[in-house]
Amino acid sequence: MSKVSALYPGSFDPPTNGHLDLIERGAKIFEELVVGILRNSEKSPMFSLAERLEMLKTLTAHLKNVRIEAFHGLMVEYAKSIDATCVLRGIRAVSDYEYELQMALMNRKLEPTLETVFMMPADKYSYVSSRLVREVAQIGGPVKGLVPEVVEQKLREKLEPAYKFHDEMQEATARSSGAREKKRKRK
Ligand code: PNS
Repeated sequence: MSKVSALYPGSFDPPTNGHLDLIERGAKIFEELVVGILRNSEKSPMFSLAERLEMLKTLTAHLKNVRIEAFHGLMVEYAKSIDATCVLRGIRAVSDYEYELQMALMNRKLEPTLETVFMMPADKYSYVSSRLVREVAQIGGPVKGLVPEVVEQKLREKLEPAYKFHDEMQEATARSSGAREKKRKRK
């Protein structure tokens, strides 16, 4: 059988533990796996393309058959240009299915020789998405366990004021509930 190269396309803004889990699973079944980051000029991403490339390169340095690249335009055309015969996508829950099915069928219409392969990330990541991670982090909430440590660090650097404000609020809440408790005991 000839070598199977797959493309795992996405926005990865930011990469999550779910993405990494899928990359590791994909790297086991494909001879070569290219993680393609969409250079999306329409959306305004939280992380620049350069930052996403750097994070994903660091996170996958241990996987010798994985390569990180950026692409623009039609995904099927990019897949063809790198000789990928498969597209890897993750399905976390039934709610992902409809969108993924539509996208897979549209891509098949555009390029019938390209197969889409779906894999499930570990169930502990079934609710993790870049969008929700961004939402929690933008309010300074904890994202430990949802994203790799390097990503967590980058989020903290980028959203320092939000994290500072959140930590101060937590401390203030702890202080006032401590004071309430003291008052209650004195009664
Ligand atoms: O991680 P995401 O944001 O769900 O990834 C979506 C992505 C990048 C795979 C999809 O938007 C895509 O392939 N965009 C490239 C443009 C394209 O080919 N569009 C047709 C898709 S049917």
